[in-house]
Amino acid sequence: MELELNPFKPGSGLRPPALEGRGPQIDAFDLLVARSKRRNYDRGLILTGLRGVGKTTLLNTLAEHGDRQGWLTIGIEARPNDAGVAAVRAKLSQELTVGLRRYSRKHKLAALIDPLIDIARGFSLGMGIGPAHVDISAGGRAAASGDIELDIEELVETIATTLHTRGSAFGLFIDEMQDLDRDLLSALLAVQHRANQREWPFFIIGAGLPNLSAVLADARSYAERQFLYSTIGPLDPHAAADALRIPVERHGGAFTDDALDLLVDASGGYPYFLQEYGKAIWTVAGTTPFDLEDAELAVDVGRRHLDDGFFPSRWNRATERERRYMRAIADTGEDTPRSGTVAAHMGSTPSGVSDVRDSALRKGLIWAPEHGRIAFTVPGMADFIRRQPTQ
Ligand SMILES: Nc1ncnc2c1ncn2[C@@H]1O[C@H](COP(=O)(O)OP(=O)(O)O)[C@@H](O)[C@H]1O
Ligand SMILES: [Mg+2]
Repeated sequence: MELELNPFKPGSGLRPPALEGRGPQIDAFDLLVARSKRRNYDRGLILTGLRGVGKTTLLNTLAEHGDRQGWLTIGIEARPNDAGVAAVRAKLSQELTVGLRRYSRKHKLAALIDPLIDIARGFSLGMGIGPAHVDISAGGRAAASGDIELDIEELVETIATTLHTRGSAFGLFIDEMQDLDRDLLSALLAVQHRANQREWPFFIIGAGLPNLSAVLADARSYAERQFLYSTIGPLDPHAAADALRIPVERHGGAFTDDALDLLVDASGGYPYFLQEYGKAIWTVAGTTPFDLEDAELAVDVGRRHLDDGFFPSRWNRATERERRYMRAIADTGEDTPRSGTVAAHMGSTPSGVSDVRDSALRKGLIWAPEHGRIAFTVPGMADFIRRQPTQ
């Protein structure tokens, strides 16, 4: 097929040619938006799932919906480690300023919104991240004390109460939320809590790895009741087939039934894998309809791409010892082995490997589905590791 027309897009947060199987989450968000117009406020949303299931894509889609319905939408992506902390705070300040300016222009509301821009700049100043000169006299309030919780509350209250008058709302979209630094996370949860109580239209919409719910509960005891939680999993076979079939049909192509079944099956319904196999069959097939032979070849080619890109991007970030630990997890042959079983596979005890377990957890390579058990954050990781030669 013509390569330049290939519609499939394996990648991070790339808009898929057909976004399938996320109706319930999109409906829940649209309802939140519709209610906010009536000033009947509901809870924000937390999306959790493994890597490659489509969290970022969905988060971006929800932000677009909010934006189109007149919300002020701001997006940030959290990052692990200390360098990430300053960068994320800087990004939040910057996105606020940019987002408010865009909102002001789009809705022709300079008189109402522009004073908020000064406050957002003051917030940057309070965070110690410039700009050097700001006119903080404008709004009479500054959000620039340097105490992150006070400043964020001040900022959110000012923005949200201003938007309230218009039946609009402020949506803060946070990707990789499990990596948000603890101070900022606690501050945001506290402010969301206050917003819920005082009916300020402020909503955090977060996405992250499956451990995010535990991270939130850890930061604030009330976090569990603060949000609507939704697990983002693989697509069911019907939605997975549509994700492949619809883009191909749009270009006048088709699949034979057995070819489509094979790709759906090989992907396990995981969106990233669907895009990879979709891209591969488009590349290898000479003509349409794509048949079983094309599909078999596509699975080979697609899997090789995954082994060259998707999996190594995690594997190569691990230290030698973390790799040994991950290999031990794969060696157990279980999806969610006990920490003790994994330690035994390394010829050690749980306390003997607790440091490497912790570092792998912090890096988001593994997560703890329940106390004393661990699992990979990437679907298919165990099989990939078993395909790797041992050193
Ligand atoms: N609902 C969906 N249907 C089909 N493809 C999807 C869907 N959601 C995401 N994708 C594709 O899957 C890949 C991974 O999506 P991404 O949002 O980056 O996942 P995550 O953030 O969970 O790691 C991207 O190539 C994206 O285009
Ligand atoms: Mg993502």
